[in-house]
Amino acid sequence: MTAHYSYPQNRLRRMRSSSFSRSLQRENHLVATDLIYPIFVIEDGSFSEEVDAMPGVRRHNLDQLIKTCEECVRYHIPAVALFPVIESAKKTLDAKEAFNEKGLIPNAIRTIKASFPDLGVISDVALDPYTSHGQDGIIDETGYVLNDKTLEILGNQALCHSHAGADIVAPSDMMDGRVGLIRQTLEENHFHNTKILAYSAKYASHFYGPFREAVGSKDSLGKADKYSYQMDPANSNEAILEAKMDLSEGADMIMVKPGLPYLDIVRVLKDTYKVPTLAYQVSGEYSMIKAASLKGWLSEKDCALETLLSFKRAGCDGILTYYALEVAKWLKS
Ligand code: PBG
Repeated sequence: MTAHYSYPQNRLRRMRSSSFSRSLQRENHLVATDLIYPIFVIEDGSFSEEVDAMPGVRRHNLDQLIKTCEECVRYHIPAVALFPVIESAKKTLDAKEAFNEKGLIPNAIRTIKASFPDLGVISDVALDPYTSHGQDGIIDETGYVLNDKTLEILGNQALCHSHAGADIVAPSDMMDGRVGLIRQTLEENHFHNTKILAYSAKYASHFYGPFREAVGSKDSLGKADKYSYQMDPANSNEAILEAKMDLSEGADMIMVKPGLPYLDIVRVLKDTYKVPTLAYQVSGEYSMIKAASLKGWLSEKDCALETLLSFKRAGCDGILTYYALEVAKWLKS
C-alpha cells in the first residue's frame, strides 16, 4: 500500500517547526572524519607562500607540512592528499622525477609517516607536475598523450610512493589500464594492503584552473588541453564504464572530480556499485566560495558547509576539500 499524503492530515512543516524535530528528521551529517585535506608541497627550504588564486591555501615546505599534519590529526581528519610543486629544472619529457626515491613526494611521505604513522597519506599518481609540457603522460611528436608508455611510468611512480610509505595511491591521470597495472605492480612487490583510490570519473574541467597555477602546470600546458584523456562534461554513462573498469582492475575506492557540478555522477556510481565513493571539491570550487566571501557576497562558513553536506546527500563516503581543516575546526567549535 502506498501512503496517501494529503493536507491537512499531513503538514510537512510540522516536523520543521522546532529544532529538535528538525534534528531527528535530519538524514545526513557532515563530520571531520569525512574529510581529506589536499596539501601542496614544495622543496624544503623554499618559502611557504599562498596560492594567488586560492586565498588561505599555501604551498607547504616540510616544516609547514608537519605542522599542518599535526593539526589534521588533532581535528580528526583521517587523511591528507599530497600534490607536489616541482621546480621547472626537474620537469622533463620523460617525467623521470616522478619516481625519484629521493624526490619531493617520497620525502614528504616519509616525513609525515615518521611523526604521524596513523594519519592516512594519499599520493597522487600522475605525471603533470613532472612533465615539461604539463600533460599527465608521455607525448608523441603531435602532442598526443601515449597511453601504454605512460602506464610504465605510473607503475614506477606508484611503487616509489608505496616504498616511501603511502597508504593510498590515487591515479588521477585517466589513462586506460592504469589501475590494473598499478595493482599488479603492488602485488608483485608485496604491497598487499596499499589501497588504490581511482579518480574514475575525472572530467576535463575548467574548475582546475587555480590548482594548475598552484603546482605550476598552467604555464607548461599553455593553450593545450586534456580532452583526449579526461572525460567530457556532457557524459554520465561513460562514468559508469570508467568506474567498472577501475573496480575490476583492483581499485578499492572510486572518485568523482570535480564535485559540486558532478554530484549526479556520485549518486549514479554509488547506486550502481555500492563501493566507497569519494568526490573532490576542486580548486575552482574552493576559489568561488572564497572570492564571493571576500567580497562580502556569501557567508563563507555557511556556504562551505552547505556544499559539503550536499556531497554527503549525493552519496559521498569521503570528500577531498581545501576547506577540510577549517571545516573540522568549525565543526568542533
Ligand atoms: C592532474 C590533477 C588535476 C587536479 C589534481 N590533479 C587537474 C588537472 O590539471 O588536470 C586538480 C585539482 C584541483 O583543481 O583542485 N593530475
